[in-house]
Amino acid sequence: MFDTMTVTKSVGAVCGSLLVFLLGNWAATSIYAMGAGGHGGEGEEHAQAYTIEVASAAPAAGAEAAPAVDVAALLAAGDAAAGEKVFSKCKACHHVDGKDATGPHLNGVVGRPIAEVPGFAYSASMAAHHPAVWDAETLFHFLENPKAFAADTKMKFAGIPKPEDRANLIAFLAAQN
Ligand code: HEC
Repeated sequence: MFDTMTVTKSVGAVCGSLLVFLLGNWAATSIYAMGAGGHGGEGEEHAQAYTIEVASAAPAAGAEAAPAVDVAALLAAGDAAAGEKVFSKCKACHHVDGKDATGPHLNGVVGRPIAEVPGFAYSASMAAHHPAVWDAETLFHFLENPKAFAADTKMKFAGIPKPEDRANLIAFLAAQN
């Protein structure tokens, strides 16, 4: 069916196209390498398109991680004067002059063990936290949602949703000795 000439032609054709393919491949690689070498604007543009995509994805991931990172920064930036205004929400039950009311006195509370005030009848779930200490970070979490911290707490207070308000309030409390 196939004579020698047909076979030779076919082999020649295959070899020829292989050579063209290899040459083309080599040429494409060299051109690409030149572009990536900084000469071709096109290569750079592609790189930028990628950068933008990654950059737009990064804030989303960062936003989720942000609260954990922000606590220390927020607390460090806490403004006691602004916190005194936030404390107006607490005044109905708490004093900062050493006298207990519906709630225990809060002067000296930062750094004080939880449920430490003598003679104050704490709830069982608050007392269960004793002798852990009210550091700024623990107060930050407690004041966001008191019931989440101590399920049966006697403190009838919904919490302060704004992290900045809590940070300022803690700065105010830290200044009351
Ligand atoms: C409606 C009254 C009420 C309000 C308002 C209130 N508290 Fe309390 N607070 C209490 C009571 C009662 C307790 C004791 C809780 C327990 O034993 O479960 C308490 C406990 C606490 C404790 C723990 C003290 C300790 O000795 O361990 C802190 C800290 C505290 N409150 C901070 C605040 C702050 C800050 C505010 C304002 C944002 C506030 N509270 C608002 C009634 C109140």
